[in-house]
Amino acid sequence: MYLLKNRILTDGKAINSEILKVDSFINHQIDSNLMKEIGKEFASHFRDKNISRVMTIESSGIAPALMTSLELNVPLVVLKKQTSKILNDDFYQTNVISFTKNTTYNLTLSKKYIKPDDHVLIIDDFLANGEAASGAAKLIEEAGAKVIGIGIVIEKSFQPGREKLDNLGFDVYSLARIKSLSEGKIEFLD
Ligand code: G4P
Repeated sequence: MYLLKNRILTDGKAINSEILKVDSFINHQIDSNLMKEIGKEFASHFRDKNISRVMTIESSGIAPALMTSLELNVPLVVLKKQTSKILNDDFYQTNVISFTKNTTYNLTLSKKYIKPDDHVLIIDDFLANGEAASGAAKLIEEAGAKVIGIGIVIEKSFQPGREKLDNLGFDVYSLARIKSLSEGKIEFLD
């Protein structure tokens, strides 16, 4: 997506060879007009796939996912990160490791907000190791629903997440694919 890539080049900062700082327009201050365009782009890519719900993981995935759900005119479900296990049958849960942040959490989805006939589109801001997206997909499939696609705003293609999701057979659509962040230089894959 030209608009996003251009903005990453203008306002993004490679703070080291692993981490891209985008907090002036994606995840601290949010450029709502850019988010609106991001939502339109995901919606147009997945529009003919009969999506019934959009899902994301709190918190930075919410802005692009909300714009996408608005465009597709379907509900948005936000998967929660709980610190502890919930010991009752009302929720699906799976443990997720964040290698970037060196934390673990229990990704949680209420059974009220997923049905076996759902066609789900997962949206997230970053794809690094693919743990959050694959954890979300696991919960959706446990409910008997289908993961129709995974939309990613910024994919760090030099990390293992994309290959992991491809190998699991998911249809992944990333708006900006970053080849490398070496020596402060941001390079895209295409
Ligand atoms: P994975 O889901 O692909 O396995 O990735 P991982 O856990 O390793 O990292 C995901 C978390 O780290 C996300 O935040 C994501 O926004 C953040 N992250 C990963 N790479 C970058 C990066 O290069 N730049 C920035 N700014 N953030 C990055 P989170 O834990 O979900 O927290 P939240 O911000 O959504 O609340």
